Amino acid sequence: MSEKRILTGYRPTGKLHLGHWFGNLQNMLELQKDHEAFYFIADWHALTSDWADTSNIRRFTEEMVLDWCAAGMDPNKSIIYRQSDIPEVAELNLYFSMVTPMSWLERVPTYKEQKANITDKDLGNVGFFMYPMLMAVDIAVMRADLVPVGEDQLPHLEIPRDGAPLQQRLSGG
Ligand code: TRP
Repeated sequence: MSEKRILTGYRPTGKLHLGHWFGNLQNMLELQKDHEAFYFIADWHALTSDWADTSNIRRFTEEMVLDWCAAGMDPNKSIIYRQSDIPEVAELNLYFSMVTPMSWLERVPTYKEQKANITDKDLGNVGFFMYPMLMAVDIAVMRADLVPVGEDQLPHLEIPRDGAPLQQRLSGG
């Protein structure tokens, strides 16, 4: 058993598909064998873009966990949870928002890209802007060491990579 704690999350987008499997899921199932693994449904992340119509989020969350388990995720081995069930995530998000320079969030490439390309949703909200910061929160709150993600999520991890300086800023360092 490795000492390293794994954490990763998925936005609740409904049933899993092959993209998930090859993107990261295969990896997650492998890692749960010899690591302490935290796998969660990022329903607050879904809310950053789907705030105007939240009707699917609960169902998609349930479907995703069922598919995870069907694919071989073992709830007796891995810790499976829903982000919005952990109030400390919201609390740390507030503290991180105090010490995160806006410039860090502005330079995340996907921020401008998605704002320009996604036209069927209004992404002009503060929550969407803070999306990568909330990922840093997810990682920090569970004190995870390793964060396996699909390639599409790599740009978002630029902020979590700076999570350590963020925590230092929080403690007044
Ligand atoms: N943004 C990820 C996705 O869209 C989900 C996610 C939220 C995540 N917080 C995270 C992934 C923290 C890794 C670490 O699927």
